[in-house]
Amino acid sequence: MALAKSGALSYAAIMTETSHDRLLIIDFGSQVTQLIARRLRELNVYCEIHPYQNVTMDFVREMDPKAVIFSGGPDSVTREGSPRAPQEIFDYGVPILGICYGQQVMMHQLGGKVESGHGTAEFGRAYVTPSEERIDLLTGWFLEQTEQVWMSHGDHVSEIAPGFQVYGTSPNAPFAITADLERNFYAVQFHPEVHHTPNGATLYENFVRLAGFKGDWTMGAYREQMVEKIREEVGDKKVICGLSGGVDSSVAAVLIHEAIGDQLTCVFVDHGLLRKGEAEEVVTMFRDNYNMQLIHADEQELFLGELDGQSDPETKRKIIGKLFIDVFQKHADTIEGAEFLAQGTLYPDVIESVSFSGGPSVTIKSHHNVGGLPEKMGLKLVEPLRELFKDEVRALGRELGLPQSFIGRHPFPGPGLAIRCPGEITREKLDILREADAIYIDQIRKHGLYDDIWQAFVAILPVRTVGVMGDGRTYDYACALRAVTSVDGMTADYYPFSHEFLGETATRIINEVKGINRCTYDITSKPPGTIEWE
Ligand code: XMP
Repeated sequence: MALAKSGALSYAAIMTETSHDRLLIIDFGSQVTQLIARRLRELNVYCEIHPYQNVTMDFVREMDPKAVIFSGGPDSVTREGSPRAPQEIFDYGVPILGICYGQQVMMHQLGGKVESGHGTAEFGRAYVTPSEERIDLLTGWFLEQTEQVWMSHGDHVSEIAPGFQVYGTSPNAPFAITADLERNFYAVQFHPEVHHTPNGATLYENFVRLAGFKGDWTMGAYREQMVEKIREEVGDKKVICGLSGGVDSSVAAVLIHEAIGDQLTCVFVDHGLLRKGEAEEVVTMFRDNYNMQLIHADEQELFLGELDGQSDPETKRKIIGKLFIDVFQKHADTIEGAEFLAQGTLYPDVIESVSFSGGPSVTIKSHHNVGGLPEKMGLKLVEPLRELFKDEVRALGRELGLPQSFIGRHPFPGPGLAIRCPGEITREKLDILREADAIYIDQIRKHGLYDDIWQAFVAILPVRTVGVMGDGRTYDYACALRAVTSVDGMTADYYPFSHEFLGETATRIINEVKGINRCTYDITSKPPGTIEWE
């Protein structure tokens, strides 16, 4: 998406409009801006993050927020040309909360003073004490004499703006909490959105309450609103949707199906690299249970044929990515009158693509997606999840009645088992891998560990080892078990299984799967490793 570069944009060009009360978060580039949105969504408040460059007064008027939050950021307001809010936003008449850099921007733009230099920085835990007067923003705060907060700032406010008063101080931040009660402006030096400010959520709760939010952002309301919107957008045209069986595409498909029924056709591409029983599960679930129009594209021969003899990870990924698009397009072309393509794009993807700090990064792996399809096929997009975070998608899935076995599923990569089979892929290896993986997941479920783990799978190694079973010699494949904890897949740690669990699982795999005689556990974190093996 080219949004980030286009400067001032109209609000409607970026997000869909919603009838809920809206809160605008102006992003000045903090690493934790998304957490502000999380805290607010937890309070059933609808909010959107927009990079400061895009926030003009036209934009603000069009969005019509009921309150505004200025995020933190890495810059210094003392630097010429550093980020600012539009000056007129202070006359717009809605409550504003400034956080860290956002606090400094407020003070600077409203006539206070900010200083940088020696002795002004403060990073980490700090303790704020209250002033005599207690204000509504601090209801539920200072029940003990002090509150723990998280500071992370290089500059500090040395003089507050006219109209402001101090309501909390810390040893290094005499203006830790300030407010102009007349105008409903609040400014804090610390980050209430982070975990290390234990009572931070209360502060957001107070802010949205005093701004008059009704807290009407619920999944039930979202579902109704989206169904209406999809009907309006699509009219009597047709929609196609690539269904993988993963959470995002499943929830998107069920929601769109609720809105337009048989005008939706899903295409499920079986590339022969799926897990045991997976194709049947997806087809049964959506065709039989949900009565959806579903094309089960059995293209195993094509994919496995093209992959034959290929061992380079990037080559394998590129072959699969290209074939996937070709196959999808071939089947989609058979649906007459299809004008829309449904995608399970989530809000973090939207933020990423408009974020001013999200520059291009090094390609570690070519990710498999169908991103280029809409332009190639001349299709318009339907993206009913683009306002949601992952856990909200799960909540919506629950609201739509999708079974927990689908909603709580571990992520499964587009290239499937191909990237869990380092080196050349053969049908024999895939069959062995499927069996071992099924046992591993069965073990994890039996021990009640599935939901504690972000992702777990088996990789079959391109090496045979010698073993002894009964009185005979074996010469079979070795496999590696992988299980990680993670929040977003960007970083990960290995899961600390007990030795008993590992021993029992290895025994089961070696005894029950013909072709594997050695089992290892991968204890690499990410970084330096990645979650998948290729
Ligand atoms: P890595 O291996 O890069 O994986 O640490 C991070 C997360 O992304 C998943 N993954 C993919 N997902 N298409 C996807 O849809 C892909 O090409 C792909 N490659 C990796 C991986 O399973 C993990 O959850």
